[in-house]
Amino acid sequence: MANLSSKLMLNTLKGQCVKNSHTPVWLMRQAGRYLPEYHKTRNQAGSFLNLCYNPKLASEVTLQPIRRFDFDASIVFSDILVIPDALGQKVDFIEGVGPVLENISNINEIPENFDVLTEKLNPVYETLDILKTELPKTTTLIGFAGAPWTIATYMIASNTNDKLSISLQKLKSDNEFSDKLFNVLIKSISLHLINQVKAGAEVLQIFDSWAGFLNDKDYIKYSVGPITEIINNVKKVYPDTPIIVFKRGEDGNEKEEKFIKLFNTGADCISINDNINSQYIIDNLKDGQSIQGNLNSDILKSGKNLKYEIIKILDDFKNVAHIFNLAHGIDKETPIENVELLVKTIKEYK
Ligand code: CP3
Repeated sequence: MANLSSKLMLNTLKGQCVKNSHTPVWLMRQAGRYLPEYHKTRNQAGSFLNLCYNPKLASEVTLQPIRRFDFDASIVFSDILVIPDALGQKVDFIEGVGPVLENISNINEIPENFDVLTEKLNPVYETLDILKTELPKTTTLIGFAGAPWTIATYMIASNTNDKLSISLQKLKSDNEFSDKLFNVLIKSISLHLINQVKAGAEVLQIFDSWAGFLNDKDYIKYSVGPITEIINNVKKVYPDTPIIVFKRGEDGNEKEEKFIKLFNTGADCISINDNINSQYIIDNLKDGQSIQGNLNSDILKSGKNLKYEIIKILDDFKNVAHIFNLAHGIDKETPIENVELLVKTIKEYK
C-alpha cells in the first residue's frame, strides 16, 4: 500500500480502502443554516455574497461544523455563482427565493471579464489560506466550483420557474451563444479551481447538480464533455490533486450507468445519489477510483431509522474506497443531534 496520510480522505481518494481507520465523513453544505452560529455570522456579514467575499467571516463559518463535529474534510465557504458574479453578471441571493441573476439571452450579454477573475475571487483564495493554518492537521481542505451546465442554467434562466428546459432550449437553438458561453465558463472554472489549489485546497469538487435533467446525448455534450475539459486543464497543472464530481440523482432506468460515466471525465471520485444500486457502482469501480455518498438528506433530517441506514451504507461500501456523505446537501431543518449521531456511528463502526 502506498504511503498513508494522516488525512483519511486523501488515502481514500487514492482508491485505498483503509481497514484500521473509520470511513472519512463530511457533508455537502455542512456550513449553513442548520447551525445557530452560522446565522450569527451571516447576520454580521449582512448578505450572503458579503459572507462569501469576507475571508475572516467565510473562514469562521467554514470552521464552525469542524469544531462541532470534527468532520474529516472541510469545504471552503463560497458558492458556485461567484463565477458569473466575478465575470460581471449581476447576482443576488434573495431570502426565501434563492439566487436571482440578471439573465442573459444574447451573445453580447455574456459576461466575460476574465482578466479580473482572479482578482475578484481573491477573497476565496484568502479564505483558503486562513483555513490551511486553522484547520486540524487531520482535516482535508476542499475547494470547489460549479460545472458549466449548472452555472449556465442560473445565468440564462434563474428568474423563471422552468430554468432547466428554458436554458437547454436556448443552448440548443443558438450555437454561437452556447459555444461562447461554454468557452468562457470552461476557462473561468478551470482557472478558479487551479487558483484554489494554489491557495491550499487539497481536493476539488465540481458540482453539476442539474446534469440529471439531460438526456444521454445532451448529458455527454453539456455535462461530461465540458467537465472533462476542465479536469484536463486542472490536471495539467496539478496532476496529483484528486477531483470529485457531483450530480444530483434522477429517476430513470440507467441512472447507475450515468453516474459511472462521470468517471470518463477523469474524475477520481463520484458522489452518488441514494436510491441507487450500490452493487452496480461497486462492480464498475476501477483501480484508484473512489465513491462518495449516499445517505438521503431527509433521513438525516427526520432521524427515522438513522443508525440503521448509516450502517447499511457502511456495510455496502465496506470493501471499497468510500467517503461518507449525503446524496444532496444537508437540509436547514436538520437537528444537530442527528449529525452528532451520524459522526459517532461512522467513527464507532467496525
Ligand atoms: O458548506 C458547503 O457545502 C460550502 C458552501 C456551498 C454553498 N453552496 C453555500 C450556500 C456550496 C458547495 C454550494 C454549492 C451550490 N450553490 C450548488 C451546488 C450544490 C447543490 O445544492 O446542488 C448550487 C446549485 C448553488 C446555488 C445556490 N446557492 C442556491 C440554489 C442557493 C439557495 C439555496 C437555498 O436553500 O436557499 C444558494 C445559497 C447558499 N449557498 C446557501 C449556502 C449556505 C444558503 C444561503 C443563506 O445563508 O441564506
